[in-house]
This record gives sequence, structure tokens and C-alpha cells, in this order.
Amino acid sequence: MTDQTMTPEERAASLEGMGCRRKRVEDVRFTQGKGNYVDDIKLPGMLFGAFVRSPYAHARVKSINADAAKALPGVVAVLTAEDLAPLGLHWMPTLAGDKQMVLADGKVLFQGQEVAFVVAEDRYTAADAVELVEVEYEELPVVTDPFRALEPDAPVLREDIKDQKEGAHGPRKHHNHIFTWEQGDREATEKVLEEADVVAEEMIYYHRTHPCPLETCGCVASMDKVTGKLTVWGTFQAPHAIRTVVSLISGIAEHNIRIISPDIGGGFGNKVGAYPGYVCSVVASIVTGRPVKWVENRMENLMSTAFARDYWMKGRIAATKDGRITGLWCHVTADHGGFDACADPTKFPAGFFNICTGSYDIPVAYLCVDGVYTNKAPGGVAYRCSFRVTEAAYFIERMIEVLAIELGMDAAELRRINFIRKDQFPYKSALGWEYDSGDYHTAWEKALKAVDYEGLRREQAQRIEEFKAGKTRKLLGIGLSHFTEIVGAGPVKNCDILGLGMFDSCEIRIHPTGSAIARLGTISQGQGHATTFAQILASELGIPASDITVEEGDTDTAPYGLGTYGSRSTPVAGAATAMAARKIRAKAQMIAAYLLEVHDDDVEWDVDRFVVKGNPERFKTMKEIAFAAYNQAIPGLEPGLEAVSYYDPPNMTYPFRAYICVMEIDVDTGEWQVRQFYALDDCGTRINPMIIEGQVHGGLTEALAIAMGQEIAYDEMGNVKTGTLMDFFIPTAWETPNYITDHTVTPSPHHPIGAKGVGESPNVGGVPAFSNAVHDAFRAFGLRQAHMPHDHWRIWQIAENLGLHA
Ligand code: CDP
Repeated sequence: MTDQTMTPEERAASLEGMGCRRKRVEDVRFTQGKGNYVDDIKLPGMLFGAFVRSPYAHARVKSINADAAKALPGVVAVLTAEDLAPLGLHWMPTLAGDKQMVLADGKVLFQGQEVAFVVAEDRYTAADAVELVEVEYEELPVVTDPFRALEPDAPVLREDIKDQKEGAHGPRKHHNHIFTWEQGDREATEKVLEEADVVAEEMIYYHRTHPCPLETCGCVASMDKVTGKLTVWGTFQAPHAIRTVVSLISGIAEHNIRIISPDIGGGFGNKVGAYPGYVCSVVASIVTGRPVKWVENRMENLMSTAFARDYWMKGRIAATKDGRITGLWCHVTADHGGFDACADPTKFPAGFFNICTGSYDIPVAYLCVDGVYTNKAPGGVAYRCSFRVTEAAYFIERMIEVLAIELGMDAAELRRINFIRKDQFPYKSALGWEYDSGDYHTAWEKALKAVDYEGLRREQAQRIEEFKAGKTRKLLGIGLSHFTEIVGAGPVKNCDILGLGMFDSCEIRIHPTGSAIARLGTISQGQGHATTFAQILASELGIPASDITVEEGDTDTAPYGLGTYGSRSTPVAGAATAMAARKIRAKAQMIAAYLLEVHDDDVEWDVDRFVVKGNPERFKTMKEIAFAAYNQAIPGLEPGLEAVSYYDPPNMTYPFRAYICVMEIDVDTGEWQVRQFYALDDCGTRINPMIIEGQVHGGLTEALAIAMGQEIAYDEMGNVKTGTLMDFFIPTAWETPNYITDHTVTPSPHHPIGAKGVGESPNVGGVPAFSNAVHDAFRAFGLRQAHMPHDHWRIWQIAENLGLHA
């Protein structure tokens, strides 16, 4: 047999298991235009739904006249809140314990809010009918500033709860206030701040932005009145959770609901929540007895689906004269828009923002977050981050820079002397997390050396001299960022969404001929799960990755799971995959021992087979074992070779990274150019280095977008000023720099294969690196803090304010 002549290393390589730069199996489909997205789904008799949306950010809806729309040939129905009210579906629960209007019920709270749902024979007719629905509005005063929203005389936004003193997360102290969330030791922190040698204070704003996936949100709902079964295809990042929510709010038994997430063209958090479009499509399908499709256009997606960030973060950081940090204080004013529809685990109304002590050994800290209603779209999601971790990373990495200015210290050195040391792990942070593992000093030294940090600083000093001497108009910024992320929610004891514990799952079936299928509770949106989960199984089971099918996204076939967001797939479902494989291997060991006529303990695992200990000539390959499992009566064992694992992680994983951005800035035009970007990521055990690099490239490009131009901006009337891709910055190949990627490997001690998540990291750590580069370029001229996004105009303004223009 060939495999007898192969070395164990050669056999392992042929499996394309963990560590292999396996090419993405999905791409064969995608690059040939054979993907199957929601809008590709076409069912016989399918209708199309479209929304009438509010042009006002705050207004009373005085009347809706749909007569002309209904009279248009091809229009089948027009739904308003009045039609949904008898079903109790005119409002729906949000993921954050609040409720949200499905269709405007008496008033509208943000521009683009859903007012009526038109259902027609085709998309064009639906769009025409939307124009014919006459809505009479009475404008109300608009509040887009969360600080103004909390003033005593601010207009009441949520009239439905204006007298409610308790919210989902405790007491409310004002009619536009949602919650206060406190963490850490306030008294001890304030004492440290009072007694400190040095205290740096700053207000840091992380502006409102949007995940803006290539594919917008949409669904096709199909109610089969004969079988009573409702099938919904949709852009769902958490299909099982959607099934449970649909069952709870519609009263349809869960077994009669099938949710299918087909191919998804990017999610980044945008497709976690439940939107009015889903509810209206389901109702319309039930009412008409026909399938109903709803797919947003780009403007609708930008204006009305879940935003990200919008955090005003006031910070105070204390240190000794020689730069040892002694305490951190933070107050956040969080703008949640018209409804609190943030997607966070229930007990964490500000997500995992309390990771804001970052990579640093900070003895005491205090955090307070106030959530506020404004006239903006709801649904603060983790745009490629793990529940407000991006905001936390930006906050601490800016505070470190501000402290370095206050101390007159080099920011790289300030980080180095405050990093949590390798021997301190597992490390309990002052705000309550237990970091699993890390080696920050090694990563930092490697990064500084890779870019010749000392040399860069010398070049920068020389550039400043040349600038002052009038020999150049370009400054050089060196943006540093080191951040620890927290990814992989669960554990179930801490984390649930709407009461659903955040475990995840994998079910494996080995076929008689030795190939396999694995089904998971997660859903890929471009991350390459079909490629990488097969690699985990290849290493664990000794079956070539190419012989393993990975399936996700169909609630009728996949085991229950909480879905994919916040880099939880690898830490949770990846662990479930390894654990299910190990159950199979345990049974395979018994089968092998029986076939080899030895005791179970006398065989050992060797890449793709069990061998008799001390006698490697005698073995049974996994393929042979699989066949025997279905063909041979083995005493004491059931036939077949299958397993399922529901994995509740004991802790989250804490990947970290060291990023350095070198940026040239033209003082007169505000134009910037990234000259060099070095990205070192440590995500523990690396399953597929090529996919990791892809994740890092994509995440860094999104970070570049956010830091340098992307925002959802409002005028004082609540009009969205950046509602099209003409105004909302999406970087193209032209703006995207050439990234240099690197890594260290510090496995997670509690994860079965030692892997930590990676998908979110580059966005989380990239934003401070780009932003710090802008700040650093102007540090020598007195810049302390300038709010993002750093577009050319705002950079020009920094230079203007510093008196750098002639
Ligand atoms: O939850 P999500 O898939 O967005 O994020 P992730 O768990 O960080 O994984 C993103 C992609 O990177 C997946 O295809 C993973 O299998 C891969 N990955 C890897 O190859 N090695 C790691 N240590 C972590 C993730």
C-alpha cells in the first residue's frame, strides 16, 4: 500500500490538516458565479415587498392613505402598523431587551424608518406603489446629539416608555436614558487619580459607522399552507436564533419553521439582528399564501440597518512619573438611536467594552456607560468586532498616546513597561476578565525590530527639522497599536442572547467509505468555514480535508448553534468540531483494537490510523475502521460512526496583536499615504495561515476605511448625509496599502486545539494604528486629540488649527 511507504509527515501533509495553506474550497463556486445568495432564490408565484420609509427623523404620523397604491395593477397588499397590531406584530422585541416598531406606530424616530410595506407581483410595481402611498407627517424637534438628549428639556423620543423608571438593564434616570452600566472599583480608582503623579484626561469619540456588507439584507418567506411549514431564506448570521425568535413572536411551533442562510455576501455584524423586513415578509406570505421576497437597496441598508460605534468616551489615566500606569477611569455616553437594538449578550449592555484596560497591567479601573436614545437608526452591532471591543481598543490605545504626551515619553516604551508579563497569565483584569494566555513583550519587540522603530523615529525627527526649515510639506506619522481582544462568547453561564446560551455545535457523520460530512451551528459569510473546519477534522480524524463536506446554515439539518459573529466560530464551534471528532476517535479506537485483536489500550493514534503499540506494521486506517463500523458486528458497540458535540467554552479566548503604521501626510492638502503597515497577529494555533492572512488584509482595509473616512453622518435635522456609496467611504484597491503580515503563536490553554479567533482582530487593532499615525505626525506640533474619521478635510483642519499653513 502506498501509505506504508509514506512517512508520518508525508501522510499528515496529504491530509491538508491544520497549519496547511489550503486553498478555499468555496472559491470554485464563487469565482464561477455559482454562489446562491438570497436574491438568487426564485420561487413560483413569488411576490416582492418594499418599504415606504420616513423622510423625517422625528415626526408624528397623522395618517396613511394607501388607496392609490392598492389601486395600482399588480399590487397585492399594503401593510401598516394597524394591520399588524391585531397580530401583536406592530412592535417586536430587540436583542437588547427593548422593543422596536416593525411599522411606524403613531410616530417615527429616525430617517428611513419603516412606515408601510407594499407587496406586489414584481419589484418594479412594488417600487412604484411605494411612491403612491400618502403619509401625512407632523414634524417634531429632532435630537441627534446624545448629550442634548439627556438635558432636562430635551424632547421625549420614546413616548411609549416615557414614564418607565426601569429599563432592561436597571434604572432609567431621564426620559431619553436607556441604562447605566458600571464595572470596576469607582472609589479606589478615583483615589488613585487624586494621588497620582500624572493624570492624562481626554474625550475620545468613536464616530458612527456602518458594516456595509457587499450584499444588503434580505429574505424570502414562504408559508406552505398545506403542510403548515414556514421556510425563510435570509441573510442571517444566526439562523437558529432567528428560528427561535420567529417561533416566539409568531406563535408558529419551532419544528414548523425552517430557516436557511444561503451564501452570504459579508455580514460584519450587520446581519445579526432581526429587521422589520423579515417580520413583514413572513406576515405577507402568511396573508397572501405566496412566497414574498424583500431585499434592501444600498441606501436603505446604510440608513436603516444596524449601525456601529457612536461612543463618546471620556477617559482619565493615572501614572507614576516614570510611566507606570496606576489606574484607569472611563465614562461612555453611548448613542443607541431610536430603539435599543444593540446586539450584545444580555448581561452586557455595552458589550465587552470592559476589556478597555487593553494589554496593560492596570491595578484599578472604573467604567461607567450610559445608553441614550436619539433620532438615529437603532441596532449598534459589533462591526467586525466582539461586542464593543473595537471602541475599547481605540479608547485605551488613544489614552496611552495621550499619556505618553503628558509624560513626554516614547509611546512604544510606555506600552512596553506596562504590558502584562508572560508569567502573569492567566491574568485577572481590574474590570473582571481572565485573560487566558499572552506574550506581549515578544510580539512587541518583534514588531519594533521588523520596522526598525528607532530608525523610523530618527527619520521622523529629521523630517520635522526639514519641515520647520521649509524644505518639505510632508510629515511622517508612526502609528502604534497593541491590543488584546476578547472573542468566543460563551461561556453559557455569562453569555446569552434573548435567553439562549452562547454555546456552539458540530455534528459529524463518517460514511462507510471513509469520507465525512460535518454540520455546524455557525454560518460562514466569507470566512472560509468549509475550508478550515474540514482542516480541523482532517488533523483530528486522519481523513483528507478534501473528503469532508462542511455544511452550515439550515436549521432543519444543522445542530442548534448561536451563529457567527464576534470571531466566535473558531473559539466555540471550532472547539465543538474537535470535541466531536475526539468522540469519533474514541469509538474508532475500540473498533481498531477489535479488528487488530488487541486491548483498546494497546493501540495508539498515528496521523490517520491506529497502530499496535510497539508494532507499527500492524495498524488499521481510519478508512478501514469506518468501513468496519458499518459492516461488522462488533460486540458491545452500535454500528455507525457519528458524533455530536455542544461546546460550552470555559472562558473566552484573548488573541492579541502588534500593529505599526507609517504614514506620510501632506500638510497643505490633508492627503495621506500609508507607506508601510506591519501587522503581527497572535491567534494561538493557526488553522489555515492563508485564510488568516486574508482575514487580516480584509479587516485592516475595513479599519483603514473607518479611521480615514467612513462615517454615518447626520445633519441637525436628522438627515443622513452619507446614505450612498458616493459619500460613504469604501476603500478600493487604489487606497489599500500593501500589508506586511507576521505572527507569533501563543495557544489558548483551554481551547481543545489551542486556537483563538482572528477575524475581528485586524479591524479592532487597525483603527488605532491608522488613527495614531495621524496623531503622531502632528504630535511635535502640539496635537493631542482629533476625532475620526481622518479624511483629507479634517486632516487639513488639524494643520490649520495648529497654524501650520502659511
Ligand atoms: O467567527 P468568524 O468565522 O468570523 O471568525 P474566526 O473564528 O476568527 O475565523 C475566521 C476564519 O479564520 C475561519 O475560517 C477560521 O477557521 C480561520 N482561523 C484560522 O485559520 N486559525 C485561527 N486560529 C483562527 C481562525
